[in-house]
Amino acid sequence: MADLAPSIISADYTCLADSLRAVEPYSAAWHVDVMDGHYVPNLTIGPVVMDAIAKISSLPQDVHVMIGNVDDTWEWYAKAGARRIAFHADVAADPVGLAKAMSAAGVGPGLAVNPDVAVADVEGFLEAMDHAIVMSVFPGFSGQRFIPEVVSKITQLKDLRGDALTVYVDGGVSPATARLCVDAGADVLISASAIFGASDPPAVAAELQRIGRGI
Ligand code: DX5
Ligand code: ZN
Repeated sequence: MADLAPSIISADYTCLADSLRAVEPYSAAWHVDVMDGHYVPNLTIGPVVMDAIAKISSLPQDVHVMIGNVDDTWEWYAKAGARRIAFHADVAADPVGLAKAMSAAGVGPGLAVNPDVAVADVEGFLEAMDHAIVMSVFPGFSGQRFIPEVVSKITQLKDLRGDALTVYVDGGVSPATARLCVDAGADVLISASAIFGASDPPAVAAELQRIGRGI
């Protein structure tokens, strides 16, 4: 069983409220991709947009920061109401210390694990995390092809920490690839372009919700 968290990066920003409301009935949370044009070669959104979304939706916002200065800025997202914040271990001076600070602030800390990072490489940090994001693309852009080789990491993470670690999968998740992730044990499917790039976003969101529920 996996929930759906649409990544708002591909939503229609000319009418963001309508774009999100259309898929909200099939969704358990919003995935907020924060990119700084430095850690990744793309620039997206920040707390201002989170504040706006909070006014039109009560779904939790799970933030995925792809930024260089996470130690200095994570609190912006906490103040904007983030339920969870996932970061990449290579940007934090002390990933466990950062995770503990987030937990103390009432935010669920998470680790985003790139396709070329093995579970063994981050295992020592996991105890401090409440979630992990298995990246099935290299971070930076929506609309990339799903990398199937990462799927075994979903199972490895669930085997290591069970219910103590919520495991997300992020990148190239579509009705064609979602079942593989659910079968591997993913708890949350993140999807941007497959949903918002479709001619009928609610239909795709509904299909992903069904796949997540094993229907
Ligand atoms: C990639 C982001 C993903 C991405 C998902 O850097 O973390 O969340 O936007 O986009 P799709 O679903 O289109 O691959
Ligand atoms: Zn993401």
